[in-house]
Amino acid sequence: MIPLLNASGCLDALTAPEVARQLDAFVTKTVTPLPREGNPPPRIAETESGMLNSIGLQNPGIDAFFESTLPRLSGLGVPIWVSVGGFSAEDYAGVCERLDASDEVATIELNLSCPNVEEAPETAAELVAAGRLATRKPLYAKLSPATWDIAESARAVADAGADGLSLINTIRGLALDRSSGRPVLARAAGGYSGPALKPIALACIWACASAVDLPIVGMGGVASAEDAKDFVSVGASAVALGTSLFVDPWTPARIRAELGDERTGPVTRQQPPAARSASSPTT
Ligand SMILES: Cc1cc2nc3c(=O)[nH]c(=O)nc-3n(C[C@H](O)[C@H](O)[C@H](O)COP(=O)(O)O)c2cc1C
Repeated sequence: MIPLLNASGCLDALTAPEVARQLDAFVTKTVTPLPREGNPPPRIAETESGMLNSIGLQNPGIDAFFESTLPRLSGLGVPIWVSVGGFSAEDYAGVCERLDASDEVATIELNLSCPNVEEAPETAAELVAAGRLATRKPLYAKLSPATWDIAESARAVADAGADGLSLINTIRGLALDRSSGRPVLARAAGGYSGPALKPIALACIWACASAVDLPIVGMGGVASAEDAKDFVSVGASAVALGTSLFVDPWTPARIRAELGDERTGPVTRQQPPAARSASSPTT
């Protein structure tokens, strides 16, 4: 049984509740303390083997999230994971404190790859420590692959009190409009996701599963049962679907059918995979 979640920002459960109900938990789009309009369009671009986005953390802010979004999400009957973002430790702590008081929130996922947030292990640890002080809810740290040694980040956030890891976020990319020679996205670069991310995600999960004893939600290009099994083989306890939901929103049901799985409920710690060498240098 492999628990299936959506990747943050890749499913609007209020528009497509029947898609969210296929999942073992629904992960919200990242919520920040204040509302954000996001970046100007175009902010989505297709490429040969993945997709670029520069949404810019568009969200209604935590007040409107509590007033309008969360009450409606609660009606789904699926555990709710809230993704939290910000620009400082105070931002993360403030949102976590608000969420801590809500019975509707199962788990908090800290999106540690926000604009203006450095991706250094010390910064990630500082943000997790701030969140940890603010909540006793399960706290997952979502890490970016854009770091020299992701295992070091994993150890840092584990020491800071994370209960689990979400791996991985997008990696920066750029698509060109051939006719103009200009970037397609208004902000030029964006987060690259989809099939091309899978080997990067597998390497990150492998390295982190070797470094820390925490449950890992694996994501990055998952589109089939074989993909999901590969993620579990390198150490993931659960798998999240992102870009594949844009291609086919029924991907979770298809994967579950291919796996012969039922819905499993809460994400639990997976036995770490058999002995492996720690992160080995790449050529
Ligand atoms: C359109 C879009 C919006 C996203 N928004 C968020 C977000 O708000 N917070 C977050 O942590 N990750 C966000 N992500 C990253 C995904 O959650 C996921 O980590 C990444 O896309 C890799 O998985 P995939 O290859 O299956 O899409 C977004 C990705 C896409 C494509």
